[in-house]
This record gives sequence, structure tokens and C-alpha cells, in this order.
Amino acid sequence: MTDTRLVRRLFDDLAFEYDQHLPFFATYGRELVAWCGLRKGQKVLDLAAGRGAITGPAARAVGAQGEVLAVDNAPNMLRALVADLGDLPQVSTRVMDVHALDLPDASFDVVTCGFTLHFLDDPARVLAEAHRVLRPGGLLAFSGPATGRAQAPAGEDDGWAFYGRLMAETGQRTSRCNPFTPPSRPLPELCAEAGFTGVEEHDARTWFAFRDPQHHWDWNMSHGFRGFVESLEPELAEEFKTRMFEGLARLHAAGGIVVQSTVAFTKVWK
Ligand SMILES: C[S@@+](CC[C@H](N)C(=O)[O-])C[C@H]1O[C@@H](n2cnc3c(N)ncnc32)[C@H](O)[C@@H]1O
Repeated sequence: MTDTRLVRRLFDDLAFEYDQHLPFFATYGRELVAWCGLRKGQKVLDLAAGRGAITGPAARAVGAQGEVLAVDNAPNMLRALVADLGDLPQVSTRVMDVHALDLPDASFDVVTCGFTLHFLDDPARVLAEAHRVLRPGGLLAFSGPATGRAQAPAGEDDGWAFYGRLMAETGQRTSRCNPFTPPSRPLPELCAEAGFTGVEEHDARTWFAFRDPQHHWDWNMSHGFRGFVESLEPELAEEFKTRMFEGLARLHAAGGIVVQSTVAFTKVWK
């Protein structure tokens, strides 16, 4: 079970570094907003908005006649968002747990949620809340890890096989819990149960190049992955870091550290 308080502390601690080493979340936020086809004047709720990867592009898409409310339970994330987007008067923020939205029924045209639904403590409850605050016909769009993502064919190593092995082995050796727990059932199934219809899915693909192993490590420590490393016993965390740097150094020497990433976008309607 995901520990909401621990996750809030984690994101509060890393907020001012989040997405600053490399614009990973900003890139996918922009793409998700483009895929949603937002219109001028619409009213958008960005759940677990972080420092505004979706909020910013959504605010520009709905224009000054529209509204975007960014909610998050980590106050520092919203402080960083305001520092970045404070010049957009259509943006407002509220510290709120997305499991219990203190917002009226049927009050938004669009609800978005980037990279969060898949690890929340009770995604079914959050989906029920998203459904409640959407007007009839309104859109919910969210992003998360792609499960059927393309992998190097069996037997071929593109240089990243070490990472899969390291993660699996470390996960087996730790007696502590990863603070992020995946949903027990597929999110589209939970969406249908919450009353949503008409699932549309899209795999968004891009790649990111890192200057060197330290750049990759700093990026990993600036988002939720840090929660996994911090959850490990200290000796195991040190060993994990050493082996990560060894694998990254091999990739760097072989031509460069490039992450090919695939992210799942989902749209459903009330
Ligand atoms: C991986 S970040 C995603 C942020 C942003 N949506 C993006 O695409 O960059 C996850 C965010 O979810 C927030 N969060 C996690 N659990 C939450 C909860 N129960 N209620 C509100 N926000 C939550 C965190 O504080 C963090 O800002």
C-alpha cells in the first residue's frame, strides 16, 4: 500500500529540483495537453500537478478566458509551480489530497493527472472523485508507465539489460517496502467502474540523452525514483548506486547514455 504521507514528504523535499536536470515531465506534459485538444475558455483541474508540467501548457491552451486549478498535497511543489507559472492569471493552486477533493460536483470540463494515478494509495477513490467533479461529457486524461513497452529482443542487450537485472535483484534483497505500490487492477478497468466511458489510449515515445553518469543519477534523484533508493537499507542503497554508476559508465564509454522512453496516455469521458 502506498504511504501517502511518506510520498508527500518525498515530493516536498525534491520539489525545487524536480524536472530541472532534464525536462522529462515537461515534455510529456506538453504532449498530453496537445493530445487532449483543449479549447479556449475551458476549465481544467490538474490533479497531483507537481510543478506544472501539465498546468502550464493547459493554461496556455485555454487562454486568459479559461481556468486551470493545480492541486497537489506537497506544498513545495505548488510553490515551485507558482514560481514558474505565476505570470499566468488563469492558473490557481490549492494544497489538497486527490483522494478527497474539496471541490463542487460537475465543475470542470477537463481533469488531467500526470504520472501519479498508477501509484496512489486508492486510485479507485481518486477516479470516483475525478468523475464527480467533471461536468457530463467532460474528459479525464492521464499519463503513466507503458506496460507493453518495446524492449530489446530476448538475447539482445542494448546496454540497459544491467538495469533491469539490478532493479529485480535489489527488489528481492530488500526487506523494506517500495513507497510506490502499483494499482491492483488495470486503470482502464477502474475508470469503467467509476462510471467513465470510451477509453482512448496512446503510447507517447521520446528519448533523452544524458551528459554523463552523474547527470543520469542526479535526474533519478530528482523524481519519484529517489523514494525507491531511500527506502533501501543503507548498505544496499550504496551498492545499488555503485552498480548503477558502473552500468552507466559502460553506456557512456560505448557512445552515450540515452533513455528511450515510452509513456502511456489514456483518455476517458464522463
Ligand atoms: C511524479 S509527480 C507528477 C507531477 C506532475 N503531474 C507531472 O506530470 O510532472 C507526482 C505528484 O503527485 C503528488 N501527489 C502524490 N500523492 C498525492 C496525493 N495523494 N494527493 C495530491 N498529490 C499527490 C506529488 O506531490 C507529486 O507532485
